[in-house]
Amino acid sequence: MFTLAHLTDPHIGPLPEPGFRALMGKRLSGYLSWTKNRHRIHNMDILRALTEDMRAQQPDQIALTGDIVNISLPEEFSQARRWLDEFAPPERLSLVPGNHDAYVSMPYAHGLGKWQDYMSSNAEAAPFLPPEHQPFPWLRLFGNIAMIGLSSAEPTWPFVAGGHVGRRQFAILSELLAKLGAENFFRIVLIHHPPLPGFNSFRKGLWDAEELRSVLCTHGAELVLHGHNHRAMFSRLEGPGGPIAIAGAPSASARKSARHPAAGYYLFDIEQIDGSWHCSSRVRNLNEGHSGFVDGEALFSTLVYS
Ligand SMILES: [Fe+2]
Repeated sequence: MFTLAHLTDPHIGPLPEPGFRALMGKRLSGYLSWTKNRHRIHNMDILRALTEDMRAQQPDQIALTGDIVNISLPEEFSQARRWLDEFAPPERLSLVPGNHDAYVSMPYAHGLGKWQDYMSSNAEAAPFLPPEHQPFPWLRLFGNIAMIGLSSAEPTWPFVAGGHVGRRQFAILSELLAKLGAENFFRIVLIHHPPLPGFNSFRKGLWDAEELRSVLCTHGAELVLHGHNHRAMFSRLEGPGGPIAIAGAPSASARKSARHPAAGYYLFDIEQIDGSWHCSSRVRNLNEGHSGFVDGEALFSTLVYS
């Protein structure tokens, strides 16, 4: 049995005090939004309780689907790196960036580069990867379980939170899903934005979701994990060889409020029985007192992939 934990959108705070120059451009709107609203939603005691609860479940791997920071200040990336280091080592935690992690254009080394070893392919994946895969998608193999990380994060105009996967990543993703499927790997895809059309307004959505759906339906995948909408979401597609489960988790740090669901995370138990993959889901939700996490209703009962 392989247990995968999924959390998303921790939006780590508090925001480091930004200098005047750092706030020029899009960061200003994000900074005002954080100081007015968002700091009240995202609570670091809740995030700490979630990570402790998750660690106690002893997952084999942890998937984190972006929006780790808020307005992409260089110091936020360092702060998040310290949080990552405390939470889990790079070989146990795999991440993809969200739109808040690519809020503005900046040198890679000052931003996402600080998390590079959490989003690098592992040695086992080398025979599958084409040379042009860097930096996304990455591929990590854990026995006969494969995890592919896509980036849909890109700087956009103020008040726009959409993203793209793009042709280059789609080509590599198609090749990887086909090869891994032919060898009966259990294929997990991580992406920040909800991967199907119609889940968001144009302003917030994945602009090439139609293409992603087509790649998934053509080549298949077993599990797709995402964030972005800060609420529990589940849907399924029919792939060429069985179901494709698509799950989005709430923000890992959110207090419950009238407009925002409380924090939660998922666990997926994956095993191969007589040559067929089985996957079941467990949900852990913030309790009413905001003091810990309790079992919630599963997203789906066991899926069997023939
Ligand atoms: Fe988010």
